[in-house]
Amino acid sequence: MKYDFKTRVNRKGQGSLKWKDMYEKKRDVSDGVVPLSVADMEFKHPEELISGLKEHIENTVLGYTGPTDEFKQSVANWMQKRHNFKIEKDWIVNTSGVVPAFFNAIREFTKEGDGVIIMSPVYYPFYNAIKLQNREIVDCPLVEKDGYYTINYELFDELSKNSKNKVLLFCSPHNPVGRVWKREELEKLAYIIKKNDVLLLSDEIHFDLIMPGYEHTVFQTIDEEIAERTITFTAPSKSFNIAGMGMSNIIIKNKELRDKFIKALESISAIPTTAVGYKACQIVYDKCEQWLDECIDVIDGNQRLLNDFFEKRFKNIKAPLIEGTYLQWVDFRALGLDKEKLEKFMIEEAELFLDEGYIFGENGEGFERFNLAVPKEVLEEALERLDKALNRLKK
Ligand SMILES: Cc1ncc(COP(=O)(O)O)c(C=O)c1O
Repeated sequence: MKYDFKTRVNRKGQGSLKWKDMYEKKRDVSDGVVPLSVADMEFKHPEELISGLKEHIENTVLGYTGPTDEFKQSVANWMQKRHNFKIEKDWIVNTSGVVPAFFNAIREFTKEGDGVIIMSPVYYPFYNAIKLQNREIVDCPLVEKDGYYTINYELFDELSKNSKNKVLLFCSPHNPVGRVWKREELEKLAYIIKKNDVLLLSDEIHFDLIMPGYEHTVFQTIDEEIAERTITFTAPSKSFNIAGMGMSNIIIKNKELRDKFIKALESISAIPTTAVGYKACQIVYDKCEQWLDECIDVIDGNQRLLNDFFEKRFKNIKAPLIEGTYLQWVDFRALGLDKEKLEKFMIEEAELFLDEGYIFGENGEGFERFNLAVPKEVLEEALERLDKALNRLKK
């Protein structure tokens, strides 16, 4: 490996939300414990990003800055080479994040009281974007069988026939269950989307984080008709661990949708991104692809370690291998603990700081989401703590 995925980073006191949350949950956390919750990575940045940003700051003025043609070309190149997704530069709309972008889309393309369809368990801000803007959450839960999740097409068809439920907020790859939707699955969904005249909000922020052997299909590449009715939410933030840059690329082919989306952003005076955000995106897309490939190998190694740990030591706890993202969805229901007890057990007994399954929806209760983007040694230590705690629990 060319890059360093082994050095531990200590983010205490750096304003990291994940670390702050850990100390809020437990003041006297033992030395060396690293939280495995919020989806950012505990890795050092690639040298290309550090030196590229330094050089940029030395040679530019950080005044009000918009996207350059070069920046847009880098984004278009990335979409083409990594995803076989051919875009025009003017389809790119920048926002300070994917979350504010889907909030904006829901506000603009639905009215108060309208339903927005989601597929739970799902990334918790999906609920907020709907609820906090006085829209209705219309859940089309994923179907779980032996740890494998699939889409309930019949229910989606039924729900989206209703004239009030004309927006689908979709997660692809799916956080937290780690599915990378197959082309056939997207095609089946696309058929219903078109038939029932649904607007597709496709959150593909994890699209670069695909485990070996799987392939991500950008939903709007299914066909032209789908492309015209889709907003695709992308960002370099998960892939390259630059969420703190506040930068995302929202791809909107349909000009009418795009103009409305932009006008809605302007109406709340939303800041697109920052001068440094554009540059960071350009640098990682142009120069850091190998870092990403190596990072995926590390994540794949870590998910196998986790899977193996439960297989060998606690067979009734299931940690199926993921297809994408760097978040593993682990089923602790066999412990028979309610959600409060499970959370307390993880924090107090195992000193594990995870994302609790229930925050992703009621059907997430009894699950925990592990963030795999840590040096292997950090995960090994976490699993040793868990091993001891589970053995104490058995007695
Ligand atoms: C599905 C999904 N969408 C969006 C985000 C965050 O987007 P942003 O930080 O760009 O607002 C995350 C972060 O984990 C996510 O998992």
